[in-house]
Amino acid sequence: MLALVGRCGTLSPSLRATKGTTKNVVLPGIKELTSVVGKTKDSLARGLRLAHTDIKLPDFSDYRRPEVIDANKSSKDSSDGRRAFSYLLTGATTVVGVYAAKTVVTQFVSSMSASADVLALSKIEIKLGDIPEGKNMTFKWRGKPLFVRHRTEKEIAAEEAVNLGELRDPQHDKDRVLNPRWVIVLGVCTHLGCVPIANAGDYGGYYCPCHGSHYDASGRIRKGPAPLNLEVPFYEFPDDDTVIVG
Ligand code: FES
Repeated sequence: MLALVGRCGTLSPSLRATKGTTKNVVLPGIKELTSVVGKTKDSLARGLRLAHTDIKLPDFSDYRRPEVIDANKSSKDSSDGRRAFSYLLTGATTVVGVYAAKTVVTQFVSSMSASADVLALSKIEIKLGDIPEGKNMTFKWRGKPLFVRHRTEKEIAAEEAVNLGELRDPQHDKDRVLNPRWVIVLGVCTHLGCVPIANAGDYGGYYCPCHGSHYDASGRIRKGPAPLNLEVPFYEFPDDDTVIVG
């Protein structure tokens, strides 16, 4: 209670001043306060001060455009120029922002792509002159065995003559090779993933000893539990003596 009384005492000058009624008061001069009803000059002066009329308005001139500093000039006269400047600034900021966003996105996406050493490992270049006719060579590519077979004319003719109706996974020999002399397939059995043996089996192509799958010289499944032909990877011949797989 004592604290409440104390606070009221502190506020009493203000309460007295704001309670007064004034007529035709022109702020902030004290001389104009002549028509005050029932209050002395002194108490009014104190009341006006407590109403914060003595606080100076901040000067924003430094932040205003030169065209609108003069209070006697209409701001409409310079509106076109100011609007053009605003549009220019907005447009320039947008262009810079879009370019920055594009750069960030590009760098982020490219950081997720494979690095140069990984890309180098993803391809293998093979010199075909090292593989004699009738032989199959095995290479390691992307952690898997890769068969490259140099077929003889007899093998080519035999595989092209196969009746597709006999095949479990029908595919013509011409659809599995770019050059009939070269058969390039993954050395992974399509049954459970064993590595078949080249130049073996009932069809002279590949034989998987794990469960007895027989593939022909085009890598097509002919007998045994494997459901599909040996997979043909992407490859190309940059010249007659070279093949690039991958
Ligand atoms: S994994 Fe080759 S036949 Fe089963």
